[in-house]
Amino acid sequence: MTAPRSHRLIPLHDQRTLARASAMALPLAEALPLARPLQDRLARPLRDLRISVTDRCNFRCSYCMPKEVFDKDYLYLPQSALLSFEEIERVARQFVGLGVEKIRLTGGEPLLRKNIERLIAQLAQLRTPDGRALDLTLTTNGSLLRKKAQALREAGLQRITVSLDGLDDQVFKRMNDVDFPVADVLDGIEAAKAAGLGPIKVNMVVQRGVNDHEIIPMARHFRGSGVVLRFIEYMDVGATNGWRMDQVLPSAQVIERLQSVFALAPLQAFAPGETAQRWTYLDAAGRPDPAAGEIGVISSVTQAFCADCNRARLSTEGQLYLCLFASQGHDLRSLVRSGADDAALAGAIASIWAQRDDRYSMLRAAMGPDTASSGARRVEMSYIGG
Ligand code: GTP
Ligand code: 5AD
Ligand code: SF4
Ligand code: SF4
Repeated sequence: MTAPRSHRLIPLHDQRTLARASAMALPLAEALPLARPLQDRLARPLRDLRISVTDRCNFRCSYCMPKEVFDKDYLYLPQSALLSFEEIERVARQFVGLGVEKIRLTGGEPLLRKNIERLIAQLAQLRTPDGRALDLTLTTNGSLLRKKAQALREAGLQRITVSLDGLDDQVFKRMNDVDFPVADVLDGIEAAKAAGLGPIKVNMVVQRGVNDHEIIPMARHFRGSGVVLRFIEYMDVGATNGWRMDQVLPSAQVIERLQSVFALAPLQAFAPGETAQRWTYLDAAGRPDPAAGEIGVISSVTQAFCADCNRARLSTEGQLYLCLFASQGHDLRSLVRSGADDAALAGAIASIWAQRDDRYSMLRAAMGPDTASSGARRVEMSYIGG
């Protein structure tokens, strides 16, 4: 392949680098000529990196870390398996060089990772190839936010997303399964606001028959608060949550219920590949009402958004996953610890991305709405990050 290479190639990674990188640790990654900009097999760029910093959590949400599985005998990763902050920063830097503009820290519960603000300070220094700062954010259950919000902001975190599945204490405590009260999460959100973390988003996973009656109270509570509330379809992620289609409340029905109370109109997406469809509240004259704000729905089950999926996931132990539903990752930790230089590391990541054709939700939808994922040996969300 000689003719079309020329300027369309990323100069940093020549064929030799790619071949070396893939031979070293990544049998799945063949040396491919790299088009610029980097795209996967479905022409999707790499823009969003989600880094899981711990596989532990102090909640036991039934849809994510059910108590029966994640009990006192569950084997979490040992400290030596975790990527160090220096390793994470180095891997993240290569991703940014390849087009990543947004980094989200997740878990488990990322605020449980010791000195997380030190990692944030390191990541906040990264710049895109044309010199822009990253969109740096974090997903948390909010339990430690009151304690940590100020330090996170000072370290350079810009915004934050808080998971909250209801306002009713009984419902919420049943879902988090550790008796954690709503008031403390709301207090964490206030602390985040006061610290200047924003915009704040709240993610609510909706499970029919469990917390769907909390949709309207949640909307009422956050309307006009500056917080963007998003309703998420309960997904068949992982292999332990006993997912059933009849527990999914399609986003279309969420919107219908909201529209029976509030006037809402759809908004344009900010950028391709976004997870949420945005809706704005309308004022009495039927115009968008910025003071009331907006809400979002994330319809990964009923309206898969794989076509534009630009998200890569780095697990706590340095496995690169190309899809939330993947059963296997690509071992970047071995490559990092083998002494590979930055060019080899970037070359390996690019090569893996170039071969990506994952689109799980789209394929599952094509198989029919009732197709559960049972039997598949898939990675857990608490390990790979939301
Ligand atoms: P913003 O940049 O703040 O809009 O974040 P985001 O919506 O990209 O990320 P967030 O982690 O808040 O995503 C919200 C939820 O959407 C997650 O908790 C998942 O339930 C779901 N989700 C996020 N990314 C994906 C994805 O790539 N595939 C699928 N199927 N679901 C996803
Ligand atoms: N379905 C949808 N979202 C989930 N999350 C975890 N498990 C699921 C699931 N089964 C998401 C939620 C939570 C974040 C940490 O991960 O959005 O807020
Ligand atoms: Fe923890 Fe979030 Fe999973 Fe709940 S959804 S168990 S808070 S990681
Ligand atoms: Fe991306 Fe996989 Fe989610 Fe589809 S199912 S949007 S490919 S992570």
